[in-house]
Amino acid sequence: MWRSDLLYYLCYPSFSRSCAEERASELAGLGVLGATRLLGKGHSSTVLEVSLAGGGRAALKVLRTDSKRSDLLAECEVLGRAYPVSPRVASCGRYYILMELVEGVPVVEALSRAESKLPLVLKVISAGRGLDILGVDHRELSRAQKHVFLTVDGRVKILDYESASPSERPRNVCRLTSWLLSRVLHLERELRELAGLLREYKRADEGERRDVFRELVERVAMVVELPPGPARNLS
Ligand SMILES: Nc1ncnc2c1ncn2[C@@H]1O[C@H](COP(=O)(O)OP(=O)(O)OP(=O)(O)O)[C@@H](O)[C@H]1O
Ligand SMILES: [Mg+2]
Repeated sequence: MWRSDLLYYLCYPSFSRSCAEERASELAGLGVLGATRLLGKGHSSTVLEVSLAGGGRAALKVLRTDSKRSDLLAECEVLGRAYPVSPRVASCGRYYILMELVEGVPVVEALSRAESKLPLVLKVISAGRGLDILGVDHRELSRAQKHVFLTVDGRVKILDYESASPSERPRNVCRLTSWLLSRVLHLERELRELAGLLREYKRADEGERRDVFRELVERVAMVVELPPGPARNLS
């Protein structure tokens, strides 16, 4: 059964009971029994946690009725290609994506609590490498605070493929490294020292990227592990 306050988000913001009930009944055919909470309300969609007939839960992304986009089908396709870095897609329609529920916290929050930041930093950059290998350019990872999550079982999941597209030279590693080092860890000077290597990675084709990535990981490990203060100036 749908709670009426959550049913509202099936045709948000131009709510009409008939629209919401029609969608709820179509979703019931996919095994969606109702929503348990609102996970997010973005510019182009709403995201609900839903309960499933089989007993599990999932995330349901619903296109807003005032969105500039006509459907979620292109996003669904690239989301499927990005798995397992993305949540697993269960099914899609013009106005919805039913997918794996990511249970966890934004990586920024996990990093602020972590005593040793390096393992998580490397996990995030490796998720970016995963997307690069899969040939998906996310395109919204320069400010990734809302898109990169650490799950309760320790995986990094990257959400929201609204602007993403297939690409032969994706730049996820470069964007995530820049975002983490400058905006999250405030290591601007260290990031500038990595600029040449990041440029090399960006320009390389997939066959050459593996070695550049290995070197990047070593350099990132050095700068993230160094204690703050004078020790940083020794290099
Ligand atoms: N599969 C999921 N599991 C758990 N939470 C999710 C999932 N997908 C999205 N969310 C939550 O919903 C929020 C909004 O999702 P998403 O970014 O895909 O929507 P959006 O409409 O594109 O938002 P925006 O306009 O801000 O880009 C996410 O930041 C996240 O908190
Ligand atoms: Mg979005």
